[in-house]
Amino acid sequence: MKTRTARVSIIGMGYVGLCTAATFASRGIRSTGIDIDQERIDQIHRGKTPIHEPDLDRLLKTAVKKKLLDGSTDISRITKTDLTFLTVGTPSRSDGSIDLSFIKSASENIGKALYEKQGFHTVVVKSTVVPGTTNGTVRPILEKTSERSVGVNLGLCANPEFLAEGTAIHDALHPDKIVIGSNDKKSTSQLIKLYRQFYRTKQPPILEMSPESAELVKYANNAFLATKVSFINTIANISEKIPGVDVGRIAEAIGKDIRIGPLFLKAGPGYGGSCFHKDLQALINYGKEHGYNPQLFQATEQVNNDQPGRIIEKAESLLGTFTDKRIAILGLAFKKDTDDIREAASIKVIDRLTDRGAKITAYDPMAIPATKKLLADRIEYAETPQTALKGADCAIMMTEWEQLRKLKAKDFQAYMKSPFVVDARRIYDPDEFKDLNYIATGFGK
Ligand code: UGA
Repeated sequence: MKTRTARVSIIGMGYVGLCTAATFASRGIRSTGIDIDQERIDQIHRGKTPIHEPDLDRLLKTAVKKKLLDGSTDISRITKTDLTFLTVGTPSRSDGSIDLSFIKSASENIGKALYEKQGFHTVVVKSTVVPGTTNGTVRPILEKTSERSVGVNLGLCANPEFLAEGTAIHDALHPDKIVIGSNDKKSTSQLIKLYRQFYRTKQPPILEMSPESAELVKYANNAFLATKVSFINTIANISEKIPGVDVGRIAEAIGKDIRIGPLFLKAGPGYGGSCFHKDLQALINYGKEHGYNPQLFQATEQVNNDQPGRIIEKAESLLGTFTDKRIAILGLAFKKDTDDIREAASIKVIDRLTDRGAKITAYDPMAIPATKKLLADRIEYAETPQTALKGADCAIMMTEWEQLRKLKAKDFQAYMKSPFVVDARRIYDPDEFKDLNYIATGFGK
């Protein structure tokens, strides 16, 4: 007998919620995206979101057209669905600990809506939350407001996501794993069935564990990746002390060891983005609150905090002083293919340079509007890399955009006042740049 495909609702149409809704719908799973922001819902209907994510708008547009995706501000719409995914944000408080206020208010609203529903309903916590949140915070609120009990007429799972900005749709369609933190058999098998329908012949491994373990998997995943970046940046900093050493060769060699692997070994200006720093701080805080100081992650963060300073040192070694020097910043986004500048090393570098009297002209193919909101007229903005370089005393390469990778040594020579180049991302060939004053992360001179 053919069973009906479950209908899903997704609460919180931010980055994770939108990508989840769009990919579910693209695989024929009827989805309702719910958000308190009417403008955001209208954008979904138009298939044009304010976030830049390749393929997202196209998937949304098609799904809305096929009536597989619908948006609403009305939370009671969850009662027409079988599973509700919670994808609201979990920002940091000023001390770095996690702010669960959106999780709490969304749980309350879900519970109140479920009070009106007949039959079983499953709630899936997809937001990044510290261990114990699903059962210690979401569950009591849901049970109280819905007057239901987990395992009886309410299902509750933790199901973290591992989407990276810029590749989120691909990551959602081809994940390495599905992690399910399970409380009750019924909701777990409902969720597994949903993912089986989603992935059909290409099933990723499904790992079932306690909700607390699933919650910790998300932090462990990000903490490991961030630590890998700080590790290679540490090796890069040592490499710079040794003539003839190139950290790229070290990374290539150690990456061949299957116990290490080749990914996340690109030395650079330090990790940015909305996740690594936030999640490491939440994990450090969580550890301390529970009587353990995770020193390794403190060191990961410390290395990362110091990395922009090392770029400044390189520029200073070329220029001597920054007073009244014009510096071209090439790339503002925290990584390529995104307009996101949250925690971007570029902003930390710009802040320090302007504090020391430098005049900045910045270029980025996508992140200038976001940077203008943050820095306004503290710096100048260029429409092309060439205009940023014009008359500059020094250029600092901050983001590995393909467009910037294509610049040649002669472009720097042609436009700059003096061809001093700091390549924080190591995207240029030092041999090609040998006639310039070129310093890159992780090259021993
Ligand atoms: C990260 C994780 O990769 C995702 O799996 C996770 O789901 C996401 O956080 C999240 O928690 O939501 P994201 O922050 O989008 O994704 O970006 P990454 O691609 O992981 O890059 C993070 C930073 O590390 C960037 O600044 C990047 O330039 C830097 N990085 C990365 C390096 O400096 N070197 C590398 O080799 C790799």
